[in-house]
Amino acid sequence: MTAPLLVIDHVSKRFPLKATLGDKLTARLSGRRAGGAVHAVTDVSLTVAQGEVVGIVGESGCGKSTLGRIVSGIYAPTEGSVLLDGQPVASGREEHVNKLTTRVQMIHQDPFASLNPRMKVGETISEGPRTHGLVPASEVRAKTRALLDQVGLEGAYADRFPHQFSGGQRQRIAIARALAMQPDLLVLDEAVASLDVSIQAQVLNLFLDLRRDLGLTALFISHDLSVVRHVCDRVAIMYLGRVVELAPADELYAKPEHP
Ligand SMILES: Nc1ncnc2c1ncn2[C@@H]1O[C@H](COP(=O)(O)OP(=O)(O)O)[C@@H](O)[C@H]1O
Ligand SMILES: [Mg+2]
Repeated sequence: MTAPLLVIDHVSKRFPLKATLGDKLTARLSGRRAGGAVHAVTDVSLTVAQGEVVGIVGESGCGKSTLGRIVSGIYAPTEGSVLLDGQPVASGREEHVNKLTTRVQMIHQDPFASLNPRMKVGETISEGPRTHGLVPASEVRAKTRALLDQVGLEGAYADRFPHQFSGGQRQRIAIARALAMQPDLLVLDEAVASLDVSIQAQVLNLFLDLRRDLGLTALFISHDLSVVRHVCDRVAIMYLGRVVELAPADELYAKPEHP
């Protein structure tokens, strides 16, 4: 057995609630501290093996995105740790966050919001590799075209702007941009949720092709169990910030223990 690529170890995240004037007054009168906290993620432990795709499913507000952001290093956990290849990632300290941006790439629900409307698609895709010096300047153009081809888009699209594409095409561009960083791990947060069902299927098929060709490792977050079923090896069900169930995708789909 090799060690898992990603280890989420007893991770919790609480967001402090901003105390209102009334809260402060009550706190002062009662002698207690003002303000509570939202328990977004509570004591989650999960591993992802190299080449494995693990789904995270649960109703809105159960903490999926927060967990995804912790794994991506956007948030530091309140408790616990996240290890990628044995290295702590989501410590919230700047030097780790910088390194992490190249190793974990996140793909969001709304590709229109995550793509810069004033940047040509080719520039958007090559921006990360250029700033991090992953690709020599002379090869940037060819590499960008190859990435577009890999996600099923024409190389000539590099010179167009995001508004010239459909939702499904924009999500392909977002995937190309993530792959351009040669990440060890992808975090897809509701990556197909904003797309029509037929387009969802196309983007999911693309993901399956890429998974087969590149051996991707991913956390696949969705509120829709039928979406994760086809792309995930294992699925974790989250409820109120906790993982309440973890099973192989088919097994879980056949007899889920939680509503
Ligand atoms: N930055 C934040 N500040 C305060 N509360 C937050 C923040 N992000 C998320 N939350 C809260 O944490 C809980 C989990 O949210 P989230 O992780 O976005 O859930 P999901 O992605 O499953 O819909 C929710 O109650 C949400 O309101
Ligand atoms: Mg979310």
